[in-house]
Amino acid sequence: MAGSVFLEGIGELATPVGFSARRGSAMSELRVVSDACILAIDGVVRWAGLASEAPEPPAGVVSVDAGGRAVVPGFVDSHAHFVFGGFRADEFYWRADGLPYMEIHARGGGIRRSVDATRAASFEELAAIGGKRLDTALSLGVTTMEGKSGYGLDRDTELRQLEVMRQLSERHPIDIVPTYMGPHSVPPEFAGKPSAYVDFCIETVLPEVARRGLARFADVFCEKGVFELEDSRRFLEAAARAGLGLKMHADEIVRIGGAGLAAELGATSADHLLKASAEDIAAMSASGTVATVLPLTAFSLREPYADARGMIDAGCAVALASDLNPGSCYSQAIPLAFALAVLQMRMSPEEALCAATLNGAAALGMADSVGSIEAGKKADFLILDAPSHLHLAYHVGMNQVRSVYKSGVLVHGPK
Ligand code: NIG
Ligand code: FE
Repeated sequence: MAGSVFLEGIGELATPVGFSARRGSAMSELRVVSDACILAIDGVVRWAGLASEAPEPPAGVVSVDAGGRAVVPGFVDSHAHFVFGGFRADEFYWRADGLPYMEIHARGGGIRRSVDATRAASFEELAAIGGKRLDTALSLGVTTMEGKSGYGLDRDTELRQLEVMRQLSERHPIDIVPTYMGPHSVPPEFAGKPSAYVDFCIETVLPEVARRGLARFADVFCEKGVFELEDSRRFLEAAARAGLGLKMHADEIVRIGGAGLAAELGATSADHLLKASAEDIAAMSASGTVATVLPLTAFSLREPYADARGMIDAGCAVALASDLNPGSCYSQAIPLAFALAVLQMRMSPEEALCAATLNGAAALGMADSVGSIEAGKKADFLILDAPSHLHLAYHVGMNQVRSVYKSGVLVHGPK
């Protein structure tokens, strides 16, 4: 899928610039151009800037008038668990009544229940429900999205989740980046034996995932009482040897130093980080590991938000993502994530936009091809129903996306 379009009448073009993550104070440097145009040819941006300086579009390229609206890059949701069976609505209300997330997990609820439902679901059922979630994401402006396995925990169901993502990526406008997350929870077959389960992941599933090219990243729920530092390290080192990029669920519930391990291993990103220490954040800044914050999860768990402000001030590249999953955060509400980033994590609107686009791309190792509107990048952009990117957080929890272009093709909304 690749199209050509000359988008004119852009009231405000707002985009981070660059082919790698923007860190620290550079996150707030957006390129903002009033009265702008974009020329995309064969799915790639050829030119973006002031209308008065725009080149003549080649013959045959259709012109579209943005009507004075704002245009921003397509959002990159770099942390999502969107292929799973079943629901856990009851747990949401147990948590609302004060039962902690990890206590539900320890009692055999939580992820385990989604594993039962996902194991019982066919390929077609998982593809149908995953596709519906992608449709929702697209309508909210997501043009690239990560997807994690981790609701199978046995060989066949883990592979099925990844195969579903492969098929959806071929059929849906959203580009999907698949992540093998075998160590998401300890399955009943290995109850009380997390290390034995990690051995199984390393010896039985990971080689097949790598051989068949089913995942680009590996991820682990590095958490007290789940997979602690040594098991996490073993799994991630094996994944790196197998050629996968590394991600981590780090320091989400209890501070055990996951963020520091991610930095030490040169992980592409460490995510959650609600409890990460200042030393580990400094280590991430030094290693260039993207710090992915997931405020919809903190909101849903009623936990204090990650210290995104401190991370940016320490020189980190911060990314903003949904964490859509059936338990801790059944939400893909990117508009609310923008508002929480600004209101609760004290990010500026410029930082929030950079975090949801270019730095999200960097968290997926894709900053060279998506995440900003500039010559050479994929023509993934959003026409907002608003005059400025400042409206993204300001209209709290409300979708400001009018039209979505993926690779230069209109894939959602009016022209
Ligand atoms: O990102 N904490 C581990 N994984 C998910 C939650 C998964 C679930 O509850 O189903 C997370 O929060
Ligand atoms: Fe997650």
